[in-house]
Amino acid sequence: MPAPRRLFVTTALPYANAPLHIGHIMEYIQADVWVRFQRLKGSEVHFVCADDAHGAPIMLKAEGEGITPQALVARIAAGRPQYLKGFHISFDYWHSTDSPENVELSQDIYLRLKAAGLIYSKPVEQFYDPVKNMFLADRYIKGECPKCHAKDQYGDACEVCGTVYAPTDLVNPYSSLSGAEPVLRTSDHYFFKLSDPRCADFLKSWIDEPGHLQAQVANKAREWLEGKADRPLGDWDISRDAPYFGIPIPDAPGKFFYVWLDAPVGYLASFRKYCELKGMDFEAFLNAPGTEQVHFIGKDIIYFHTLFWPAMLKFAGTPYKVPDNVHVHGFLTVSGEKMSKSRGTGISPLKYLELGMNPEWLRYYIAAKLNAGVEDLDFNPDDFVARVNSDLVGKLVNIASRSAGFISRHFGGQLAATLQDPALQSDFATAGKHIADLYETRDFAAAIREIMALADRANRYVDDNKPWLLAKDPARLADVQAVCTQSLNLFRLLAIYLQPVLPVMVAQVETFFQAKPFAWSDAAHPLLGTRINEYAPLATRVDPKVMDVLFGLPAEVAPPAPAPPAAPVAVAAPVKPAEPGAAEITVEEFAKIDLRIARIAKAATVEGADKLLQLTLDLGNGERTVFAGIRSAYAPEALVGRLTVVVANLKPRKMRFGTSEGMVLAAGPGGQDIFLLSPDTGAQPGMKVK
Ligand code: 2FM
Ligand code: ZN
Repeated sequence: MPAPRRLFVTTALPYANAPLHIGHIMEYIQADVWVRFQRLKGSEVHFVCADDAHGAPIMLKAEGEGITPQALVARIAAGRPQYLKGFHISFDYWHSTDSPENVELSQDIYLRLKAAGLIYSKPVEQFYDPVKNMFLADRYIKGECPKCHAKDQYGDACEVCGTVYAPTDLVNPYSSLSGAEPVLRTSDHYFFKLSDPRCADFLKSWIDEPGHLQAQVANKAREWLEGKADRPLGDWDISRDAPYFGIPIPDAPGKFFYVWLDAPVGYLASFRKYCELKGMDFEAFLNAPGTEQVHFIGKDIIYFHTLFWPAMLKFAGTPYKVPDNVHVHGFLTVSGEKMSKSRGTGISPLKYLELGMNPEWLRYYIAAKLNAGVEDLDFNPDDFVARVNSDLVGKLVNIASRSAGFISRHFGGQLAATLQDPALQSDFATAGKHIADLYETRDFAAAIREIMALADRANRYVDDNKPWLLAKDPARLADVQAVCTQSLNLFRLLAIYLQPVLPVMVAQVETFFQAKPFAWSDAAHPLLGTRINEYAPLATRVDPKVMDVLFGLPAEVAPPAPAPPAAPVAVAAPVKPAEPGAAEITVEEFAKIDLRIARIAKAATVEGADKLLQLTLDLGNGERTVFAGIRSAYAPEALVGRLTVVVANLKPRKMRFGTSEGMVLAAGPGGQDIFLLSPDTGAQPGMKVK
């Protein structure tokens, strides 16, 4: 048997400004299946992640809510466990890039790169917002396109005519943060010298070495390296000026590391903290011969992970080591629709769990569709129902459910001492080698196809041998025991092969066989003469109706249109684009509505009301309770602390759960698409909105 491997595995660190969406869950499931497979093979695996806490967007969002970035990050982090536990993601540790470990490691790596002569500084001219007193990233600058003169275009490219330009080319530029006209200012920036021939030479050999990258990814990285693609390889601007939520650059007052420098270092920070908690030697583990460092990422962040990150690690030197593998996946689309990075799309992972849907259905479906390439994976509801019901219930569980009863009823739960068809068993055991290779190379879809082909064979075996007929003839009882022992042993092998995908169901299978936790090598040894427990159902079918609720079809999820909304929230019927506006009102009529800024002090789910959240609002002069029909779009913990707009003089409404004393304002058709209003930075609870 080959020596067990020593693996340090990560998934991309999610930004700490929003709850996880289904795209994150897909990546975690992919990595988790691979990790569980390695553990099943007996390897030592340490699997970590963390919140990606730094950067201007998080700083500005926190400011908009009137809280510190640390409070925002802590609030988001508090919401993570329910997703991870919910989908059985077996991370060993979850940390934050805003941690002492990350400060120490990022600064250490930087100082080593500096000592290696790979850091320099030079003045850079950039737009500055004189009202917010900060330099503006391109995405915060808008203005008129210099070519077609379309208004309100971003600082990098025109969405109307497609022209690409520098923010300084915009006509009448303005800061989207304050509206002020930005001024050009010069400031020293620090650069990582990626153009140094040492970097280029190293990266070329790292990219070319088989095993590090998928072929498509290596091709892309090579193009970048050779400067052929849209982004020629230049030096990397790694500094940002204060105010910035980030890690200070040593000996450079007022300068911080750009978030993309310290984000991947967060992989190491999380692992180091975990080592500390487990009494492991972080450096010794990383440097031990044979240790493998593996990163799972999405295709949008290849550039950072195949150029900057390996080069940073290489030239920082020991104890750091370059990644052994960066594995890239495509995006998850839902019924063909692309996902938005911040909000995800279509399926809310929390809603999936709240509806009582089995997380292993999703794990199975994703595994069954994921290959080793970078193509997008489409979640299609009909396909999901068909796959889960036919494979898991119709094929897999069926093998056990129609064999187990005979062993329990006629043989006191005891399996026969020999196999009826040892050659068939040996075929199943041999197939394990190929299935292991497919798991190893992340071609889970092919692994599942192989396993399901075996399930078909096992079912054919039962069909051909008909234990239900044999059982009618007392003279053939021994054959019944032999056939059912055989089919249960085939089933056991399939369960071993599926353990990385279906860990909870397979734990029940282990109990059913009165076995200790399975190992991959158990497939070589059939269970003979041992006892089994009474069979209890292992999987249920997906009810197609639940998919409608998951996807928030209007009848199920959005409040009805003309009647008063189920909850006093300005999210009523789904708004179709063609819907006519409401009748005209006068300014005086509008002035009757007392709109106020409110801070959400508390947010909680309401038992027995799956659409509602109970919000405790701070209006500057005391608190009040509002029930809002926004649960399908917001996790309560994501709301605490943020500012919104409330109708403060709405007549209190008695509801089943209590009295609602106002209405929060939101836009959108309902379901996941509810968008709570937020005021601009500076607004305070109680301020009148007019
Ligand atoms: O793209 C993103 O969502 C980043 N937060 C990923 C960071 S991965 C790693 F570098 F930390
Ligand atoms: Zn234009």
